[in-house]
Amino acid sequence: MRSVFILLCFFLLPLYLSAQSFEVHSPGNKITMFIALDESGAPHYSVMQNGHTVVQKSDLGLTLKNIGSLAENFIVQAHLHGEIDTTWNTVWGETTTIRDHHSFLILTLKQKQTDIIMQIECRVFDDGVGFRYIFPWQEKLSNFIVEDELTTFALTGDHMAFWIPGDYDTNEYPYAHTRLSEVDAITASNKYPEIGTRAPFAKNAVQSPLLMKTDSGLYISIFEAALVHYPAMDLLIEPDHVLKASLVPDALGNKAYLTTYCSTPWRTIIVGEKATDILASRITLNLNEPNKLENTDWIQPMKFMGIWWGMHVGTQTWNYSNAKNIDLASTDWNALTPNGKHGATTENAKAYIDFAAANGIQGLLIEGWDVGWEDWFGKWKENVFDFVTPYPDFDPDIVSAYAKQKGVQLIMHHETSGSVTNYERRLPAAVDFMVKYGYPSVKTGYVGFIIPRGEHHDGQWMVDHYVYVADYLAKHRITLDAHEPVRPTGLCRTYPNWLACEAARGNEFNAWSQGNPPEHETILPFTRLLGGPMDYTPGIFQIKVNYYDSSSTRQVHTTLVKQLALYVTMYSPLQMAADLPENYMRFPDAFQFIKDVPVEWDTVKYIDAEPGDYLAIARKEKDAPDWYIGCITDEEARDMDISLDFLDNGKYIATIYADAKDADWKENPMQYEITDQIVTNKTVLHIRMAPGGGCAIKIRPKK
Ligand code: NOJ
Ligand code: CA
Repeated sequence: MRSVFILLCFFLLPLYLSAQSFEVHSPGNKITMFIALDESGAPHYSVMQNGHTVVQKSDLGLTLKNIGSLAENFIVQAHLHGEIDTTWNTVWGETTTIRDHHSFLILTLKQKQTDIIMQIECRVFDDGVGFRYIFPWQEKLSNFIVEDELTTFALTGDHMAFWIPGDYDTNEYPYAHTRLSEVDAITASNKYPEIGTRAPFAKNAVQSPLLMKTDSGLYISIFEAALVHYPAMDLLIEPDHVLKASLVPDALGNKAYLTTYCSTPWRTIIVGEKATDILASRITLNLNEPNKLENTDWIQPMKFMGIWWGMHVGTQTWNYSNAKNIDLASTDWNALTPNGKHGATTENAKAYIDFAAANGIQGLLIEGWDVGWEDWFGKWKENVFDFVTPYPDFDPDIVSAYAKQKGVQLIMHHETSGSVTNYERRLPAAVDFMVKYGYPSVKTGYVGFIIPRGEHHDGQWMVDHYVYVADYLAKHRITLDAHEPVRPTGLCRTYPNWLACEAARGNEFNAWSQGNPPEHETILPFTRLLGGPMDYTPGIFQIKVNYYDSSSTRQVHTTLVKQLALYVTMYSPLQMAADLPENYMRFPDAFQFIKDVPVEWDTVKYIDAEPGDYLAIARKEKDAPDWYIGCITDEEARDMDISLDFLDNGKYIATIYADAKDADWKENPMQYEITDQIVTNKTVLHIRMAPGGGCAIKIRPKK
């Protein structure tokens, strides 16, 4: 293996002959990153995996406003190499420990005409690379504005890609699956008018994480890690399959305002020979800073229910009345006429608390409890919510006392409607309210265009906001689940109270739009989930919406059993049992799986997967001998053999929740069969999944 590498290095060297060049080999020698200055002093890099080029000679650098290009005329001042091998404990996660084993290079460059010092830091793992720009404190550079980032990723071919349109304000798209050259982001974006805040900006722009598959079968993901104080990076597909970084601008068109000492987020390239290698990669988390919180004992992963799905299917409302043109400051809420469909009433909350307590579900989210919902959507209005005033039919004293008595944790809801100025002003009072009433967790939401007007969900200003909220909440021992934020980039390692984000197209779209195609959940773990857990809201049993509204043709695009499997395939420390209690009561034997499935795990086995087609994952419950398996398929029926060789010796009972023989996501989605089988680590389970279906399995030792 080593000799192959040396040969290939010689092959590549001519590129950089008259230049200074460096190589970083991953600890197991699988990945090599080359970095060099060419004749004009321009930094470039390339990446190889097992002797094959993954990324060809690509550009590095930035353009700074009023300063100019930081992409050429550099000399190397210093270079530092080394290797790190360390293992850290997760507060929560797919595994209890994570190994961080990489080689690194820190290259210090000085630009001849400006004397500006820029460092390029590279970390090379056996499954990919991360690199970033660092600007040390220096006389010649203190406060500066990034006009553009010039990083490119020159790919070796017109790979197949799983992509969503590049967009400054939303990531709530289904994935398209085409060659890079076939991307048409504007046409794709226009297919989804149901997304309230679309801001696609170029035909050739896609978002990261971008998953690609080469014609020779290699999987490549391009992403970023530790997005702080910088805008999100989209990717422009340029000629010859070169991807170029494209930073989300602010209201003035600038990209980032930085002060030395500072660094950019990491740009990452994850490479896998098998699709499951992408799922197993821990590069994103490893490139984030360690946990910042001194004490984490109070952080509680949990399953939760919500006064929520009723609003999405239209049987309930967030708003208390049907009044129009409400003004937050002057409205007498007690004088409004109730519309009779308000979901967040004291009475409903108590009934949900009873149901959650009786079924071992730890949390309850209550949306629509606070005044303002009459006039919240699509207005670009500043003062919509105050986050402390309940509607007349919701009594926080009674509800919180009842929840406490029943041992259920209340999850606060702060929908900001995109008015972030208003939210930041009111956050201290909102948090005092939560502390007073004992809410340990909050779901935030950013539906709507952002205020300050002209800022975007994915720009630097908002990136700062999300981190500010996570940090502020941590100081008050509150956990966070952010909806409609920028996609996460592993910051849950640094702020482990940041349990989940939505930041992708969730199950809710199935209730009121064309929905999510059956393949959707087979793609998310390869894309969005690389940055951290998603609050996808699985567990919908009543698949067709015409159950509530006979005129509706909407439906969840899965079978009921696939909804169960999602608790295993979509890792999250915060999992919603998203359907209505009455629907769980109709199917108590299937609901048993949701009651049993944990949210805390020791370890994981990625059994088999092909993005866009199928996925099978096994997880072992934390501090318990039980295993859970989730398998899902796209619109194709599929047979799968699952070896249970990961079990210890001894006999186990496998309870198998399978699609019924004639089940089908469209025609017959709610039929299932539950069977028990004695298994050992020699057993190979044969399972069959219906079109749009899945299989969920609980395995426990036989006593
Ligand atoms: C969108 C969120 O994703 C959803 O969960 C929530 O119910 C609505 N916004 C209202 O805040
Ligand atoms: Ca959403």
